[in-house]
Amino acid sequence: MRPAIIVHGGAGRLRGEDVGRRLEVLREAADKGYEIMARGGSALDAVVEAVVVLEDSGLFNAGLGSALTFDGVAELDAGVMDGEGLIGAVAAVRRVKNPVVLARRVAELTDHVLLVGEGAERLARILGLEVPEEVLVTREKLERLRELKARWARGEDYTWLAKLRKLAEEHPGYFGTVGAAAVDREGRVAAATSTGGYWLKLRGRVGDTPIPGAGFYALRGVGACSATGIGEYIIRFSLCRAVCELMAKGLPAEQAAREAISRMSAELGEGLAGVVAVDANGGVGYAFNTEAMTVAYRAAGMERAAALAPRKADQRATA
Ligand code: GLY
Repeated sequence: MRPAIIVHGGAGRLRGEDVGRRLEVLREAADKGYEIMARGGSALDAVVEAVVVLEDSGLFNAGLGSALTFDGVAELDAGVMDGEGLIGAVAAVRRVKNPVVLARRVAELTDHVLLVGEGAERLARILGLEVPEEVLVTREKLERLRELKARWARGEDYTWLAKLRKLAEEHPGYFGTVGAAAVDREGRVAAATSTGGYWLKLRGRVGDTPIPGAGFYALRGVGACSATGIGEYIIRFSLCRAVCELMAKGLPAEQAAREAISRMSAELGEGLAGVVAVDANGGVGYAFNTEAMTVAYRAAGMERAAALAPRKADQRATA
């Protein structure tokens, strides 16, 4: 069969000036993943390498572009899973540029699923994946943090969790988590997701991204899914598991993504999340209940990946 991949750069509101560049990088990530599979590589290779492109771009809230906690550190989360039984994740890692790679190593080299904080960083050090903290905590980010904290101190912002929706409305870049879902030539499926969480989060806060079933999920012979949005709600809904279960009942990726987001909206409200999914037949789809989302995908018959920034009003099927 022909491979397919879909990647995302987060759901929320879009900052106009960045959209073109973000779409170009998303397209590059989808093409990279697709070409890996076209040469015989696995869906797992494809989603990890696609997410590395997004982490390294500095344009999304993941890897180099990760948000800072309230007290000025970067704490990154990532998870990866395929339908063959591989699953790994890391949370709250501070000195790792590509947490998605570390998540894969957790799956391949340890008996664990999820490593957090110092323990995960120790593994990164042993594997040569550690980077100096200044790589992720730049002067520009500290300046942005100062501005956000000043707004908070003036009472222009929110208290934790209860006002996350307001936070999302006011700070478009907040939910630029990245992720990918792919199916390869042998029908193997995989998903990977990576994030810096969101600005001003409390140190130690972990969102949906490294939680299997919430921020990522894959089912053998069925499909795979990656989520973005407000982690506290995505965890409550087990969003990626919901999408995969709908695909297991026979829905193509596109319909499963839409149905899961529609159920999440009914249960928890609008403005919370987006997903991308592939099914084992090579179908791809996305859905979101935020104002907009950025995605790129490449499936059978496409010479190059297509990248788009759909708005809520014009949500439609991809391929
Ligand atoms: N979805 C990313 C987060 O909430 O951390």
